[in-house]
Amino acid sequence: MMKHFLDIHTTSKDDLRSIIDQAHAMKSARKDRPKGAADDSQPLAGRMVALIFEKPSTRTRVSFDVGVRQMGGQTMVLSGSEMQLGHGETIADTARVLSRYVDLIMIRTFEEATLQEMAEYADVPVINGLTNRTHPCQIMADVMTFEEHRGPIAGKKTVWVGDGNNVCASVAHAAGQFGFDFTFTGPPQLDPEAEALDFARAQGVQVAIERDPVKAVQGADLVFADTWVSMHDPQSAKERRHNQLRGYQVNEELMSHAKPDSLFMHCLPAHREDEVTSAVMDGPHSVIWDEAENRLHAQKAVMRHCLGL
Ligand code: CP
Repeated sequence: MMKHFLDIHTTSKDDLRSIIDQAHAMKSARKDRPKGAADDSQPLAGRMVALIFEKPSTRTRVSFDVGVRQMGGQTMVLSGSEMQLGHGETIADTARVLSRYVDLIMIRTFEEATLQEMAEYADVPVINGLTNRTHPCQIMADVMTFEEHRGPIAGKKTVWVGDGNNVCASVAHAAGQFGFDFTFTGPPQLDPEAEALDFARAQGVQVAIERDPVKAVQGADLVFADTWVSMHDPQSAKERRHNQLRGYQVNEELMSHAKPDSLFMHCLPAHREDEVTSAVMDGPHSVIWDEAENRLHAQKAVMRHCLGL
C-alpha cells in the first residue's frame, strides 16, 4: 500500500512516533555541519521529488528543497499556475503523468479535494504541504520542537489562541495522536472545525473551548498563535478579522498566566503586534526559530517514511 502523508489523523500513531524519532536522530547527526553538507546516509540518492505550490511559501519550499538535497536527492519546484494543472488539466491526469517522472510529490494546494485526488491517482507517495483544512508537516515539526525543549508532549496542556484555522486543525489531530490536551480560545465565528476536535476527543484527550483567553492559558505548557488572516482568506476579511480577534493577541500579559516554563510557538509568517507581540516572539517562552528549523528535520523523516527508506 502506498505510504502517503496526507494528515496526522490518518497516519498511525506508530508511524507518527517513528517519524519523530527519525527526525530527532537525523537532526542530531547533522549537529554543527554546514547547511549544504550531505547527510552521512544518502537515502534519496537517485530520487527526484516534485514540490508543487499553488500558494506562496518560504519555509515549506526551502525546507523541503534543502532536505531532499541533504539526503542526496534532486528536486523540481513547480508553481501550480505555470503547470497545465492551472489551465484545465485534471488533477488525476497530472498525478498519473508526474508519477512517470518523479519518485515523490509534495503539494501545497487550496482544496483538500485536490490533495486527495492527487493521492488517489499518483503511483508515488504524496505529501500534504498545506491545504485550506490542515498543515500536518508543520505540526510534526512542532511536536518535535516541544519534545526537544520539554520532553514528552503526552499529557501536556496546549492552547491555540485566535483563529481556528487549518494549522489549528492539525494541532487538534496531533493532540489525539500524541495524547496531549487541547484548548481553543477565540471568537465563536472562528472555532476550529468540529471534526478535528471530535477526532481528538475520541482518542481520550481533553478538548475544550474557552472564550476567555486568560482562563484558557492558565496551566498551559504550550501556547500557539497564528496569523489572523490566512492565505485562503480574502483580504477583504482583514478588518473584520482584526476586530474579532483583537482581544486574542498573545502578549507578555497573556503569557504570564501560562505555566512559567511554557513554550510559545507560531508557524510563521507572523504579523508582529497583531496576533503576537515582538516581546513574546523574541522573548524567553518563544521557540519559533527552532520550530522553523525543525520543518527541515521532520519533513526529511516524513519523506523517508513515505519512501520506506
Ligand atoms: N509555516 C509555513 O508553512 O510557512 P510557509 O508558508 O512560508 O511555507
